[in-house]
Amino acid sequence: MGIPQPAFYIFKCEQSAPPGMPKPSCVSAQNPESQELFQYLAQKLMQEGVMGTVQPIRTGCMNRCNVGPVMLVEPGHIMYTGLTKEKIDRIIKEHIMEGKVVEEYVIDSELWDEPISPADMKKQMGM
Ligand code: FES
Repeated sequence: MGIPQPAFYIFKCEQSAPPGMPKPSCVSAQNPESQELFQYLAQKLMQEGVMGTVQPIRTGCMNRCNVGPVMLVEPGHIMYTGLTKEKIDRIIKEHIMEGKVVEEYVIDSELWDEPISPADMKKQMGM
């Protein structure tokens, strides 16, 4: 038997804007909880005993800064916004453990429309 691949990857945006930057960021001094969310997520996965088959990944900006803190759950391309510890608890319980996406925390479809295939994008660029 081979090494099993993870069932889920959770990409947590860990971008922090430098002090004085007007742009919002997913990790910021103004929101102290935002600085603890990755650690919290990892601890919860360990407590559940699912670390490894659920792999949390620290990532950079995913260009949805205005609705941060955000994280992307794969597979499924599910982007969760406005994260707090409470929201992470529910996402782990309902989405990760029970397979039900927590729709009320999912990004607005206006901000997360269908993807453009790379082949179509190349055409749009006239290449
Ligand atoms: S800083 Fe997190 S999406 Fe941009």
